[in-house]
Amino acid sequence: MKISFIGTGHVGLVSGVMMSYIGHEVTCIDIDEFKINQLRQGTTTIFESGLNQYMDLCYRNNQLKFIHGYDRSIQDAECIFITVGTPTKKNGDQDLSEVFACCTKVAPYISNKCAIVIKSTVLPGTCLKISQFIKNKGLINSVISNPEFLREGQAIQDFLNPDRIVIGAQNAEDFRLMRQIYEPIISQGITCIETNLNTSELIKYVSNTFLANKIALMNEMANLCEIIDADITKLSYAVGLDKRIGHEFLNVGPGFGGSCFPKDLLALQQLSRHLDSRCLILDSVIKSNKYRSQYIFNKIMDAIGLDISKKNIAILGLTYKAGTDDLRNSPTIALIHKLRAQNANIVAYDPQGIRNIENYLEDLYCVNNLYQAIEYSDAIIIMTEWLEFKNIDLIKAKKIVKQPVIIDLRNVIDNTYATYCGFKYYSIGQKDE
Ligand code: UGA
Repeated sequence: MKISFIGTGHVGLVSGVMMSYIGHEVTCIDIDEFKINQLRQGTTTIFESGLNQYMDLCYRNNQLKFIHGYDRSIQDAECIFITVGTPTKKNGDQDLSEVFACCTKVAPYISNKCAIVIKSTVLPGTCLKISQFIKNKGLINSVISNPEFLREGQAIQDFLNPDRIVIGAQNAEDFRLMRQIYEPIISQGITCIETNLNTSELIKYVSNTFLANKIALMNEMANLCEIIDADITKLSYAVGLDKRIGHEFLNVGPGFGGSCFPKDLLALQQLSRHLDSRCLILDSVIKSNKYRSQYIFNKIMDAIGLDISKKNIAILGLTYKAGTDDLRNSPTIALIHKLRAQNANIVAYDPQGIRNIENYLEDLYCVNNLYQAIEYSDAIIIMTEWLEFKNIDLIKAKKIVKQPVIIDLRNVIDNTYATYCGFKYYSIGQKDE
């Protein structure tokens, strides 16, 4: 089938490339000319493991095109996926201006058989509004909801082997169209949920809220473990063995971040406020994660000693999690601001995130090597769970640091081994040795 994607951010680019890989003729469109030129030259604009190879393959097979702006090249599209951003406005509402702008801009080109599929994360009620919006322009195109569940860093596996595909539509023909698009995936036995537009939109929000809830609960239980001398690692393992709970998203850390969880939870909270539908659990998860940032700062201050001015702090990990170069809502950025306010000297290292740091902290001193970062440090703070940090050579590290202190906010290092190597080791939710 001929499919167009509007917006080549993380979701649009991965989905566009992978739709092409499963056999469709895909055109990816963006208003950012620089980005499109880069993509045409075969350079991916985001870090996503494996994406380059899939993009190369599809591009060489003439199954994938990149276009700057809107033109006649979309007139043959049987379906257009909208994958642009839905950020939060200053007043807390979801900003749908980009989504509506796309609908307006594609309108002059598309045929009336072309379905408009909303893949951007939008609040319940949005697809119905879009449907009305395009009707008011005299168009009769279908509007379909098809939320995405791709995790950064694992987006390709998530696309090819999703837990489910969710489709919200208003008639049998639209469901048929979407099943046809996803046929190569559905035929592997993947469940496809067909429902109305509002339910489809809400499924996405409830999934993210549920996952964020799991993380926030375990982070709070880790705080309790520290007080009563219990062990969060054993605890989460045992709790996760209950099949009704499962092991995933029980890992403690510096709080959840990224471009999705914080934004989506706030959007759902705002919707429930507008509709006067109390959502107390959601309120608590947001509050809990906000407090997490202060909690970890206090923990660091307790570990290093209250006066950290002029102390050399090595920050390992800038991104909000491993496997990405994305720094949006990264707990590390918030922490660095707090440490700087105390006049600490910061050196940072991240295997992928440094290339984006200037958009957030342009004068941060970053180095390209883990051991260079920790040299002469008074404390090492591990913020993300990159394998490289887990595999750090502690014997070598001990020789080059000024003070052997590790504050491991992802529990990636073995407590006993760190102590054996001569480090004062602090982790989350465990008794410090
Ligand atoms: C999340 C969802 O997992 C995807 O299903 C969804 O499609 C995406 O948001 C979205 O809405 O577009 P992502 O933001 O890539 O994906 O990241 P996650 O892997 O979910 O991690 C989110 C945050 O939770 C990170 O800060 C991570 O470090 C933290 N986390 C995750 C934990 O602290 N502990 C865990 O056990 C898992």
